[in-house]
Amino acid sequence: MDQKKVVIIGAGISGLVACKYCISKGLNPIVFESQSDIGGVWAKTIKTTRLQTFKGMYQFADFPWPSSVTQDFPTQNELLTYLRSYADHFDLLKHIQFGSNVKGIDYQGPSSWSNWNGIMKTVPNGKWKVTVESVQTHSTMVQEADFVILCVGRFKDVPNIPEFAPGTGPEVFRGKVVHSMDYAAMDDGKAEEFVKGKRVVVVGFQKQGLDIAMECSSVNGTEYPCTVVYRNDRWKVADFSPWGIPLTYLYFNRFSELMVHKPGEGLLLALLATILSPLRWGISKLVEAHVKRKLPLAKFNAVPERSFAKDLRSCLIAALPEDFFNRLETGSIILKKSPSFSFYNDGILIHGQTKPIEADIVILATGFKGTQKLKNVFTSQHFSELIAPSTDSRVPLYRECIHPRITQLAIIGFSESLSNLFTSEIRCRWLVELLEGNVKLPSVEEMDKDILNWGDYMKESSGEYYQRSCLMGLDIWYNDQLCKDMGWNPRRKNGFWADLFQPYGPMDYANP
Ligand SMILES: Cc1cc2nc3c(=O)[nH]c(=O)nc-3n(C[C@H](O)[C@H](O)[C@H](O)COP(=O)(O)OP(=O)(O)OC[C@H]3O[C@@H](n4cnc5c(N)ncnc54)[C@H](O)[C@@H]3O)c2cc1C
Ligand SMILES: NC(=O)c1ccc[n+]([C@@H]2O[C@H](COP(=O)([O-])OP(=O)(O)OC[C@H]3O[C@@H](n4cnc5c(N)ncnc54)[C@H](OP(=O)(O)O)[C@@H]3O)[C@@H](O)[C@H]2O)c1
Repeated sequence: MDQKKVVIIGAGISGLVACKYCISKGLNPIVFESQSDIGGVWAKTIKTTRLQTFKGMYQFADFPWPSSVTQDFPTQNELLTYLRSYADHFDLLKHIQFGSNVKGIDYQGPSSWSNWNGIMKTVPNGKWKVTVESVQTHSTMVQEADFVILCVGRFKDVPNIPEFAPGTGPEVFRGKVVHSMDYAAMDDGKAEEFVKGKRVVVVGFQKQGLDIAMECSSVNGTEYPCTVVYRNDRWKVADFSPWGIPLTYLYFNRFSELMVHKPGEGLLLALLATILSPLRWGISKLVEAHVKRKLPLAKFNAVPERSFAKDLRSCLIAALPEDFFNRLETGSIILKKSPSFSFYNDGILIHGQTKPIEADIVILATGFKGTQKLKNVFTSQHFSELIAPSTDSRVPLYRECIHPRITQLAIIGFSESLSNLFTSEIRCRWLVELLEGNVKLPSVEEMDKDILNWGDYMKESSGEYYQRSCLMGLDIWYNDQLCKDMGWNPRRKNGFWADLFQPYGPMDYANP
């Protein structure tokens, strides 16, 4: 039988799970991975990184965490071991070509989904040409593909570096400037040596910035305090059970989703969401009161302006490292809030303050340009612009998986959720049904409309951060659509009340 070629780019969690499900449909995918190991972002992190999603939510539906991992939030090492055993168990390694950097992909032929009927039955309009460079030898080869699955991730490789007016950027600074990804790439001992006895400024106050500031303060104490320079306060969670109620019961069950206006909802759901909106507001205030009770946010002028609900729906919530506020109290970490900053010879100048911050090292924990990374994969400007006209645009994907105008290609792992592993897995299950011809795609116009509806929902729920592509807080509604497409019953619980109030997790989807 003519075996159609599926190429997967990336062997992080999304690439591994895509590979596993392709194999389950009798395909023989090739996975190109530029690094020498699986795991993507989990292959190497800073020493203290652990999951910030509860492990029950961050596990494969048919491969649970082993009983030897007892903590709710496993360490990076435990996670990597778990991924390696997943890859071994499903015999994935033989499909992966490590040290193979995809330089670009290009489609030759007219691009259209209109006659899509599964990879074996559709007569392809054209083929993808995947140009792969060997990291070792720098030689290149071109692999043809009938279908490409992009699993290149968004929090790795392409750093977001702030821009500065001439003469005010890193070039005038006598110390060292690195991005958090360079710091994370260092061996643990080297990272410690790097910051030891140094005046360190960390720019950025989300998860990576928090963790790096903690590491610096552990190494240097109050002798060389670590200064965190940041623009906006975001809600941080010190625990996942405000007032003793697990957050999943407040934001990740069907009842919580009834309080939210949904993309393309009908009249009844819209009415219900409006009626329940005071409750939605009340829950957000309840969580905020809990966080403020536990953490001295007001004392450090760190109370966020936006609501907890809005930050959550924008995927802007970070788990606070234990002891963080103690470090602020004792002075081994100092917070400096400012809308902007610049460099001078000996450190950093922050807007509105005359006293400069002297520094030896500045670590930019300023995140990543995930959209740029995705755009870079496409050789042709046409496809790159379809993915996003600019790096600030939202990536328009139907079911957050395929672009209506880029045929024979899927993107897994771009838009975020409560648990990115859980979401990547269910997307891959949808995708292989699409590959088999069991998921019928609507017309391009209908896909566009659905994408617009989601865009409108995101603008309403996340405000100025809508382009972040975040499903958090509407995970079940999203999964329902994938289930319906696949012909599965979206109601996965036993009984009406359980279905309404119990949180949904990966194991609810173990069987179709
Ligand atoms: C430190 C850290 C902690 C996180 N913690 C959580 C968490 O607690 N919960 C959660 O839900 N999410 C978390 N995330 C988000 C995380 O990104 C996802 O959970 C998930 O691991 C992403 O997997 P991925 O395979 O989609 O992407 P990645 O892990 O980024 O993998 C992409 C892979 O593609 C490869 N690749 C990229 N471009 C090319 C190319 N051109 N050619 C060949 N190979 C290429 C890369 O080398 C990489 O191996 C965290 C992210 C970071 C950075
Ligand atoms: N499991 C874990 O423990 C763990 C650890 C690390 C990372 N992660 C995950 O990895 C992803 C990336 O995290 P991240 O912390 O690297 O990035 P991030 O969440 O994108 O945060 C970037 C930070 O940099 C700031 N920033 C961006 N541009 C700036 C500029 N021009 N000037 C000043 N500040 C700027 C942002 O400020 P504004 O908020 O003002 O925009 C924000 O504080 C997230 O999904 C995170 O959850 C998880």
